[in-house]
Amino acid sequence: MTLRPLLLATLLASPLCHAAPVWLSIGDDGYRLLKQLAPASLSSAQHSLRNDSGLQASQRSLATSTETVHLVQVDDSLLPALSEAIHQQQRHCGGYMVHTSLASARQSVTASARSSLAAPVAAPDYTLRQQARVNALLPQLQESNLLATIGSLSAYQNRFYTTSHGVNAANWLYRHWQQLASRRSDIKVEQVSHAGYPQKSVIVTIPGRSKATEVVVLGAHLDSTIGNTSENSRAPGADDDASGVATLTEVIRVLAAANYQPQRTLKFMAYAAEEVGLRGSGDIAARHKKQKANVVGVLQLDMTNWQGSAEDIYLYTDYTNAAQNAFVAKLVSTYQPALKVGYDKCHYGCSDHASWHQQGYAATLPFESRFSDYNPHIHTSGDTLANMGNQAAHALKFARLALSYAVELGQDGSTAAR
Ligand code: BES
Ligand code: ZN
Repeated sequence: MTLRPLLLATLLASPLCHAAPVWLSIGDDGYRLLKQLAPASLSSAQHSLRNDSGLQASQRSLATSTETVHLVQVDDSLLPALSEAIHQQQRHCGGYMVHTSLASARQSVTASARSSLAAPVAAPDYTLRQQARVNALLPQLQESNLLATIGSLSAYQNRFYTTSHGVNAANWLYRHWQQLASRRSDIKVEQVSHAGYPQKSVIVTIPGRSKATEVVVLGAHLDSTIGNTSENSRAPGADDDASGVATLTEVIRVLAAANYQPQRTLKFMAYAAEEVGLRGSGDIAARHKKQKANVVGVLQLDMTNWQGSAEDIYLYTDYTNAAQNAFVAKLVSTYQPALKVGYDKCHYGCSDHASWHQQGYAATLPFESRFSDYNPHIHTSGDTLANMGNQAAHALKFARLALSYAVELGQDGSTAAR
């Protein structure tokens, strides 16, 4: 397990300009990488817990059954490089989760957190009953709009969570989503600030008419990275994850224009700071849990526009909910019968769905390809629309899936269409 020398040299030479301490929970493999990356940073506080049945399921998969989960304090500026190193290590080396304190790191790992595993919410009725409505809306989704949003987001120099460009891109998305909802006084568009960094998340809320306390979340991350990202690094992040944000945006546009009013509350979320440890979504999911929010389902769209494998849509089976995954597979076979569904795993908490899963909510990650076939340009300056053939046909499949998810779960499954 060795790092590419170039990466290591860059890391050691790079000044840690915006360092802030955070706590990581990390498996043995990731911990070994971290020691290679920054031996000095590990001299301070650290704790280890055996990965036995006392660990919560989401954390158990950070490490194998004979391994240890380490709780380590590091500077957050190391995280992009750590993610990069994890990816380079044959792409299955184990992941990490970021926590703001030792207490919350411990809480997420130890048995005391197991109560949060029990789903706080009863599983919804997953029967499909909205065929007429969904089929009327599907043709309104346009590939040209997906292309335009991916183009706008990837035109920012980068969307890193600490740079001026990352702040500007998040502000642009806020204004764009406001415009899409401007004819609807019932729709709320808000920016969410996070402690410790300037990039804000964006949330669009379409309030439910009869079951407003039941919430359906559709998410994507708005930040981008090239690993060791600084103010003017070029990190277009067209697939990772402008594609997911564009997918959400097109669904918001169509639902708002159709004056769609769900029974349950729909929340569309573009998360800040995913690339540095799921931080925006971690914050937002923790707030929902703290408020005992009744989140009935979460759909995460991260990388939707690179068809790397034979099947069209891959459902990732780790850090997700099996019953909801089956529902999502049924959405594909019902509304896009020509498409093929495959299954795979990240083997670590690879995107924002893991933040919700960790809080006990049912999450699903429909992904562009098998894990071994994902877009090879991500986390480089080559993650561009041009390198995806200037098309968004693959992302359009995910927009159709997301719209069918929003409408089927947005209505209360137990009541007929009204
Ligand atoms: N979009 C990726 C996750 C991904 C990459 C999923 C390839 C499947 C295949 C995401 O933006 C990302 O880079 N996540 C980090 C992990 C996170 C905890 C920092 C990663 O995978 O290193
Ligand atoms: Zn990424």
